[in-house]
Amino acid sequence: MIKIGIIGLGRIGKVHIKSISTKISSAKVVAAADPFLNDEMTAYAKEFGIENLSKDYKDVLNNPEVDAVMVCSSTDTHAAISVEAIKAGKHVFCEKPVDHSLEKIKLVEDALKENPVKFQVGFNRRYDHNFAAVKEAFLAGKVGDIHITKITSRDPNPPSAEYAAVSGGMLLDMTIHDFDMVRFLTNAEPVKIYVEPAVLVDKAIGEAGDIDTAVITMHMSDGSIAVIDNSRKAVYGYDQRAEVFGSKGMAATKNDSASTCVISSENGIVSEKPLYFFLERYMDSFAAEVKEFVEAIEEDKEIKTGIDAGLKAVAIALAGNLSIKEKRAVYINEVLNV
Ligand SMILES: NC(=O)c1ccc[n+]([C@@H]2O[C@H](COP(=O)([O-])OP(=O)(O)OC[C@H]3O[C@@H](n4cnc5c(N)ncnc54)[C@H](O)[C@@H]3O)[C@@H](O)[C@H]2O)c1
Repeated sequence: MIKIGIIGLGRIGKVHIKSISTKISSAKVVAAADPFLNDEMTAYAKEFGIENLSKDYKDVLNNPEVDAVMVCSSTDTHAAISVEAIKAGKHVFCEKPVDHSLEKIKLVEDALKENPVKFQVGFNRRYDHNFAAVKEAFLAGKVGDIHITKITSRDPNPPSAEYAAVSGGMLLDMTIHDFDMVRFLTNAEPVKIYVEPAVLVDKAIGEAGDIDTAVITMHMSDGSIAVIDNSRKAVYGYDQRAEVFGSKGMAATKNDSASTCVISSENGIVSEKPLYFFLERYMDSFAAEVKEFVEAIEEDKEIKTGIDAGLKAVAIALAGNLSIKEKRAVYINEVLNV
């Protein structure tokens, strides 16, 4: 049984507590910490049998019972807490993104070289059944050589402008998943990126210095082209699709919905909207990624979404931000080799 400590009891911390407690029999959450620990968080943790609660994450790191920690706190704390946890000999699951700065991510990489614990980044979408099926089709040769990869990733509702201001911007906060997805689906690396940005959903997001809409093109190391389209607001719900098109064919996904029922009447044909947001669409993938983390610890297996995946996705996002700033295509190496 792998004993886990959760650092950060916000939205995603609670998701992991629930999925570990209800879906992973080989792991148990034994401790949790959040500086804003309140009655609601305490009640939630206790509902899942977690008695060891604190306002200080160091209590989790110092707890000898804890084998692994999950860093679910705000992004600006991920790298520093990860380094401390690695040095304390704990295995670490770190939510995305590892940090906004490549220098800080490299400190995590350095700590891992000295303390070879398991380290996984929370790129849960790789574990989504639809995207995994596209990857499988590509690996089985059904697509042939990839020519074009297309990802549609649209949220149902924008975050607040205050959140946007501290999130590092849409590319580092939201598109980071899509950058990882492009790498995952193609087994290739983005070499060059161009971002066409817009603020079309909420002016306040623009005033806070962020964007809410983008079309992104990337030249890939295998010669193919990848396209991501992002919006912070799709009125019909969480729109998450991917398509890999190549010399032998195409593998593409549809959205998941509550049912496949289609109602046809004289007024038209109506089907269900996509599942509302990430909690609905990706709950199974959150459990699957942690299951793999736990297995990697138990059986000393290699982690697929380790620090390298964490660093590369952030490098692509930073190159994208430079593209927005300088209104030009940017080679990923321009930010990686500084
Ligand atoms: N994989 C995904 O799909 C996914 C989804 C949501 C969020 N996230 C990531 O998870 C992280 C948290 O996001 P959220 O939506 O849960 O945010 P949130 O604001 O709901 O929760 C963050 C929590 O961390 C706590 N915290 C801050 N500093 C801390 C510290 N030093 N020690 C312990 N706790 C601390 C805050 O008090 C807060 O309760 C972000 O980095 C976000 O990008 C990932």
